[in-house]
Amino acid sequence: MGFTQMTTPSKHKKLLKWVDEMATMCQPDQIHWCDGSQEEYDQLFELMLANKTAVKLNDEKRPGSYLIRSDPSDVARVEDRTFVCPSKEEDAGPTNNWLAPEEMKEILVQKFTGAMQGRTLYVVPFSMGPLGSPIAHIGVQLTDSAYAAANMRIMTRMGVKVLDVLGADGEFVPCLHSVGAPLKEGQKDVPWPCNEEKYISHFPETREIWSYGSGYGGNALLGKKCFALRIASTMAREEGWLAEHMLILKLINPQGEKRYIAAAFPSACGKTNLAMLNPTVRGWQVECVGDDIAWMKFGADGRLYAINPEAGFFGVAPGTGDHSNPNAMAALKKNSIFTNVAMTEDKDVWWEEMTAESPARLTSWLGESWTPDSDKPSSHPNSRFTAPASQCPVIAKEYDDPNGVPISAILFGGRRATQVPLVTEATSWQHGTFLGSIMGSEKTAAATGDLGQLRYDPMAMLPFCGYNMADYWGHWLKIGATEGAVMPNIYCVNWFRKSDSGEFLWPGFGDNSRVLKWVFERCAGTADARQTAIGNLPTEGSLDVTGLDVSEEDMRQLLEVDVQAWLQELPGIREHYAQFGDAIPPSLNEEVDALQARLEAAQ
Ligand code: GTP
Ligand code: SPV
Ligand code: MN
Repeated sequence: MGFTQMTTPSKHKKLLKWVDEMATMCQPDQIHWCDGSQEEYDQLFELMLANKTAVKLNDEKRPGSYLIRSDPSDVARVEDRTFVCPSKEEDAGPTNNWLAPEEMKEILVQKFTGAMQGRTLYVVPFSMGPLGSPIAHIGVQLTDSAYAAANMRIMTRMGVKVLDVLGADGEFVPCLHSVGAPLKEGQKDVPWPCNEEKYISHFPETREIWSYGSGYGGNALLGKKCFALRIASTMAREEGWLAEHMLILKLINPQGEKRYIAAAFPSACGKTNLAMLNPTVRGWQVECVGDDIAWMKFGADGRLYAINPEAGFFGVAPGTGDHSNPNAMAALKKNSIFTNVAMTEDKDVWWEEMTAESPARLTSWLGESWTPDSDKPSSHPNSRFTAPASQCPVIAKEYDDPNGVPISAILFGGRRATQVPLVTEATSWQHGTFLGSIMGSEKTAAATGDLGQLRYDPMAMLPFCGYNMADYWGHWLKIGATEGAVMPNIYCVNWFRKSDSGEFLWPGFGDNSRVLKWVFERCAGTADARQTAIGNLPTEGSLDVTGLDVSEEDMRQLLEVDVQAWLQELPGIREHYAQFGDAIPPSLNEEVDALQARLEAAQ
C-alpha cells in the first residue's frame, strides 16, 4: 500500500529546493505532497490501520473516527527537550532551553540524516488562519508520521489550496519533523515509532522548526505550539502584534449585543471548556471562535483584532462530558481522532468523567483490559481528541473571518487552590501586564514532569514564548503604548480555588458565564467594582449569583483579598523577576513595589 507519486504541485523554487535538500538528508523511500483531500486522509488511515497504529471505531457510534495508542513513553509535550535557539543565549532567556543555532543544527543534521529511511516523507502545506487573511501565515511541515499529517488536516487549513496561495514566492515557515525511527530493509514497523531522544528545536532568527523523536501533540503537530506560538511570538515582536496561548469567545447579552473575549490559561486549565460553554445565566450566549491560540493585530480603529489560527480542537479528553462540555462532545461525534483514550467493547471511546458511570469493561489506553476497580485510569490524563472546529454546534461564524474579531477583554487564569480570587480586574494595561507576568498555576499532565507543582507561568506562555520572557513583557507594554491603541481590559480569573477539605469552591464550567457577564458589563461600564490592593473586584450584588448553588461563606472566600497571603508571595514574585536581571521592564518593578505598598497599607 502506498501513495501514487504525482507531479509536484508547486512552482515555488525555494520550497522545492528545501524539500529536495531535506529529502536528500532524511532519505525517505518516497515523497508525498499532501493535497488535503478526503481520499488522501482515508488512505493515511488505511496505512495506519495496516500498521496497527490506528483502530477504526464503530462507524455507527463514531462515524469516520479512529483511536490511536501512542507509545507509553510519548504522551505529552517534553518541555525539557524543547529548545529555542537564537544566536545569543540572553535572547532565549532563563526560561527557555538554549543552544547556539549552529551547534543545534550540527546535532540535528546528524539525527535527521537517514532518519526517514523506509518511510514516506509527507509534504504538508498549511495555513494558520483563514486562507489569504492578512493576519494568517503559512507553514510547510515535512513529516514521516502519517498520524501527524492526518491530524494537521483537521487542525489547520491544509493541502493544495495553500500552495496556490503561496504561489511562486510567498513566505512560509519550514517545519521539519521526524519520529526518528528509520526502518532497515525488511524491518517491521512498530505501531508508534518514536525515539527516546527528542529535540523540539526552534530557530527564531531564520524562522525554522526542527522537531525530532516524538509523534505526540505539540511535539509533532508543528503548526500549533512550535509555529503559532514560539515562532509566531518572535514574528509578532518584530512586527508589532501578539501571538498568544488564548481562546477566543463571543459573548452575547440578552439584548443581542456582543463582545469578544480572549483568555490565556495554561495547558489543561480550561480554555476549551470556557471557549464553548453553555451559560447558566439566563439569556446570555457564548459562541466559540478559538480554543487554544489567538493571533492579534491592530485594526484601523486602534483595536486588537484576533483570529484563531487553527481549524480544529486538540482537546483534553478526561473531564470532557455532556455534564461539563456538551459542545465539545457534539464536535467529536464524528470525523475525529482519539489518542490514548480507552475503548469500549463495541469499539467506541470512553475516558474518565465522560459519563457518570464507567462502562463495566474497557480496553485501556495501554491496550489492556480494564474494569472500574482497576487502580489506574482507563485513559491517559493527557489523552486528546482531534475534532474539526466546524463540527462544534456553537462555532461562531466569525471563526472563518479573515479580518478577525475585536477583543474587548483579556482574561488570565490558572489553577490556584488558594489566594487568587475568582476574578480581579486590572486597573490599567500596565497593571494587567504585571498581573499576567506573575500568574502562577499548578502543573498539569499536558507536559511531562511533576503534577500539581505551583510554578509561575506568565500569560500561560512559559513553555511557548519564543524569546526572552522579560522582553516579551516589554513587548506587551509597548503594544499597550501604541499610539491610537484602544486596549482591552485585563482580568485575572481562578476557577480552581479549593476548600480546606480539598473541594473546588466554585462550580466552574457553565457557571463561569457569571464571571464573563461581569466582565462584559465592566467593559460596557454598567457593573460595579470595589478597589482593593490587588485590583478591582466585584461588589456584592454586581456578580450575578441568581440560582447559583454556592454558600455565602464560600462566595465570601472566593471574592476575598487575602492580604497576608499576598504579602507572603511577594518575595517569590521578586525572585521570579530576579532571574531575568536587568531585562525586566522598569515599570514592572515599579508595579511590584506599588503592590507591596498597597498591601502594607491594607494590612
Ligand atoms: P490545553 O488544550 O492543554 O491548552 O488545555 P485547555 O486550557 O483547553 O484545558 P481544557 O478546557 O481542556 O480543560 C482541562 C481540564 O480542566 C479538563 O479536565 C476540564 O474538565 C477541567 N476544567 C475546565 N474548566 C473547568 C472549570 O471551570 N472548573 C473545574 N473544576 N475544572 C475545569
Ligand atoms: C497544550 O499543551 O497547551 C496543548 C496541547 O494545547 S499540545 O498541542 O500538545 O501542546
Ligand atoms: Mn494549549
